[in-house]
Amino acid sequence: MDLRLPAAHEKARIVEHMFNRISGRYDLLNRVISLGLDRAWRRRTIACLGLKPGQRLLDLACGTGDLSELAARAGTQVVGVDFSQGMLEQAEAREIDAELLRADAARLPFADRSFDAMTCGFALRNFADLAVVFHETARVLKTGARIALLEVDEPANPLVASLHRLYFGRLVPLAGRLLSDRAAYSYLPASASYLPSREKLREMLEDAGFDDVNHQRLAAGAVQIVSATRS
Ligand SMILES: C[S@@+](CC[C@H](N)C(=O)[O-])C[C@H]1O[C@@H](n2cnc3c(N)ncnc32)[C@H](O)[C@@H]1O
Repeated sequence: MDLRLPAAHEKARIVEHMFNRISGRYDLLNRVISLGLDRAWRRRTIACLGLKPGQRLLDLACGTGDLSELAARAGTQVVGVDFSQGMLEQAEAREIDAELLRADAARLPFADRSFDAMTCGFALRNFADLAVVFHETARVLKTGARIALLEVDEPANPLVASLHRLYFGRLVPLAGRLLSDRAAYSYLPASASYLPSREKLREMLEDAGFDDVNHQRLAAGAVQIVSATRS
């Protein structure tokens, strides 16, 4: 099993190809791996934004559109952006009430201060340069805009952490091998090592122009929601 993580210069290309490859079964694997809990985590993520009907929301790295769909149901004008054509095709097939665009999160094709809110699900680990993405999202958000980032995390409790390592490190790749793509679902647990610590993440967000950074732990610490406000 190749657990080698891509170097920065090749990461974007490898990640894009990987998501194109697994897009067809991405939703199924999400439901299986999260034991069906990811829908509740996503609802909670959207709730953090306190959206009002008519507001314009950016779903960054929208993938197959789960968060876009929930935000659209809240009456928001949703723009979903992803660089994987395969993932966007799955989102388009769902006929979500959202505008979907192929673009790189590091170079967004939007004017300054054009969104009221932003969400991003399980994608922070996949960006080649997280600081660049935070600065770019700060650029397109209005002052006072809320963001909510849903990501994996490592449980703090040692017993839970060892069970989690077994689940995430062994069973998730096995589910990937049986139902989708072995290499991609081995990358998934390994890619958690790209995530900055909670303190570093706060520092990066503040440096990019966010304040009021808040951190919630879900699923016994296996999942986190980071929310903040564009200052
Ligand atoms: C794990 S999926 C998450 C999809 C969706 N947000 C969700 O919650 O299910 C990560 C997504 O990030 C996208 N992605 C990674 N790097 C990107 C970048 N630089 N620009 C745009 N999309 C990117 C991938 O194509 C993939 O669809």
